[in-house]
Amino acid sequence: MSRELLVTNALPYANGAIHLGHLVGYIQADIWVRYQRMLGRTVHYICADDTHGTPVMLSAEAAGITPEQLIERMHREHARDFAGFHVQFDNYHTTHSPENKTLVEQIYRQLRAKDLIATRTIEQFYDPVKEMFLPDRFIKGECPKCGAQDQYGDSCEVCGATYAPTDLKNPYSTVSRATPIRKTSEHFFFKLTACAQYLREWTGAAGRLQPEALNKMKEWLGEPGEEKLADWDISRDAPYFGFEIPDAPGKYFYVWLDAPVGYLASFRQYCERRGMDFDAFLRSPDTEMVHFIGKDILYFHALFWPAVLHSAGMKVPAAVWANGFLTVNGAKMSKSRGTFITAKSYLDLGLNPEWLRYYYAARLGASMEDIDLNLGDFVARVNSDLVGKYVNIASRTAGFINTMFAGRLANELPVVDPGPYLHPSPFHGLVTRPGFNPRDIFDRFKNEGIAIAQAYQDRDFAHAMRLAMWLADIANRYIDDRKPWMLAKDKASRRELHGVCSVALNLFRLLTIYLKPVLPVLAKNVETLLQIPNLRWEDDKSLLLDHHISSYKHLLTRIDPKQITAMTEANKQTLSPPPTISGPASTPTTSPGAKAASAAAAAPAGPATIGIEDFAKIDLRIARIVEADHVEGADKLLRFKLDLGPLGTRQVFAGIKSAYDPQSLVGKLVVAVANLAPRKMRFGESQGMVVAASGEGPGIFLLSPDAGAEPGMKVK
Ligand code: 2FM
Ligand code: ZN
Repeated sequence: MSRELLVTNALPYANGAIHLGHLVGYIQADIWVRYQRMLGRTVHYICADDTHGTPVMLSAEAAGITPEQLIERMHREHARDFAGFHVQFDNYHTTHSPENKTLVEQIYRQLRAKDLIATRTIEQFYDPVKEMFLPDRFIKGECPKCGAQDQYGDSCEVCGATYAPTDLKNPYSTVSRATPIRKTSEHFFFKLTACAQYLREWTGAAGRLQPEALNKMKEWLGEPGEEKLADWDISRDAPYFGFEIPDAPGKYFYVWLDAPVGYLASFRQYCERRGMDFDAFLRSPDTEMVHFIGKDILYFHALFWPAVLHSAGMKVPAAVWANGFLTVNGAKMSKSRGTFITAKSYLDLGLNPEWLRYYYAARLGASMEDIDLNLGDFVARVNSDLVGKYVNIASRTAGFINTMFAGRLANELPVVDPGPYLHPSPFHGLVTRPGFNPRDIFDRFKNEGIAIAQAYQDRDFAHAMRLAMWLADIANRYIDDRKPWMLAKDKASRRELHGVCSVALNLFRLLTIYLKPVLPVLAKNVETLLQIPNLRWEDDKSLLLDHHISSYKHLLTRIDPKQITAMTEANKQTLSPPPTISGPASTPTTSPGAKAASAAAAAPAGPATIGIEDFAKIDLRIARIVEADHVEGADKLLRFKLDLGPLGTRQVFAGIKSAYDPQSLVGKLVVAVANLAPRKMRFGESQGMVVAASGEGPGIFLLSPDAGAEPGMKVK
């Protein structure tokens, strides 16, 4: 993909705050865009607020303001939240703009000229008190199957039945509580049925859709000759907040017609500001449009949108890539549990946005699978990977360069005797012959960069992060092995110290290139430290020698688990949403926490019964003991270095000295708690826990898995 790119994110609705669920897709696209730019590609990264429709109109009314006032306020808030997470759009516009009105009308006229617009009379629910037609989400009633009260017009939350709103018993309008009546009106339809063959062709292009999306498309489109598509209703009757349809007073474009056009409208505004030729961009065969979306809106982006664009004779999307939903602690985000976390509350509580960017990157593959933000694992992983591995490389070495070598990197590599260092690697196949020859390590870092680049390109950020952390482990092992703090004590080792620290900082530089799309601010601070103005992917990756660096300043703090507690508490207590009218997704739920608390009060003493979601909070993993030592000055503890496969290595202290000889444990597989908050002990930090059994009598017994288990496997 060497063409000039227009990259977009789904436009968020202008009637709700940005939350951590939204941010998955925005952070994903931002990382991809930053990576493309690091390669030197030209990318225009565009977004806007999605402002039209009944919910915005009613939200504004409930708040006693005009829709224009509401969308202006939301626009400011959304732009602030995205900037807060370093999602750096080139333009953030609104669909309620003159550019959008002009483009939608232009497209509509094209479709009409090609006889692709039809009018039909349809019957819908109408609120006689509010005098408006009711979208399905504003009608409730009794489930036609099980009789449950207050069910939405499409499905029953109690028995799971799906049905049409007209099937509901005793329906009522959620706007006025009036009983809706049935009323007919004329609607405009886009003849999607005429586009089935074109959509089959569009769908088939390589890399355009993910495999799961392709399957969905096949289901929706059916085989040639099978008529599975229906024409698309693109109009709504007044009162409606949107654009009136030309030559059709009282009829408005349905929000989903003008929303994706908003991508182009925002891009047009940006082009005008920068003196770029919008029309030429769209006409050029050397430009491509890539949409990042959530999987719930695939239908709109992979059917309606390319069909409309193609029919209007415009550029069609080169790719539509969907991400999955976010769960928090293994469950749907919940206001009662405090896991419906707004972007603003995260930032207001002083949490670093790059922590979340890294965690999402470490979880995101190229598929449409949902990702889980396990808050315990979030703390453990960020602290161990970013602080304990990556930043640690610089914090252990840059100070020596500053204080002992006047801030200058060595002009030669350290002298190495590779013999003693050729021991087996715990990195299972990744480092087949590690050695600690700096040249070998440096070459390995350069080579892995190719695989990391491919992973970024393919949006397999989880793989890119895994590779980067393996490299960080290697760099730390090199430092552990060369022990600069010992070399510093011996005047005769000055040259060696200089070389070792210089190599480590060179490795750190390459790792920073590899992590820069995810951690732009941290990378900027590293650029200041290393006095390199702009790290780029194509930078000369040969060793930087005899180069001046700045004095080392703290690069990243650890997450304090108390910050996470404060965040969930804040979202439990303060999440009173702005006066919005929203659909089923934000229906208040009863508090499962409250129910559990009352059940526990009645239960006999002893651990309370827990739900599966509580068990899921414990990240139990298979781990291999790669080192086991006595701890000087501790009578009960052993120190372990555990290999957790893709999660990397951890230092863990365990009180099992009375039961085991440490040397007998090396190589053994055990079960470890991987997301236990790290604990500072007198002897060092314990970054997890090894699970063991004990009873009334003497003896402590480590648990081990059956043959075949591998480090990193989840115990569940
Ligand atoms: O689902 C949503 O949040 C929509 N507001 C996305 C619109 S994307 C594009 F089509 F505008
Ligand atoms: Zn039901």
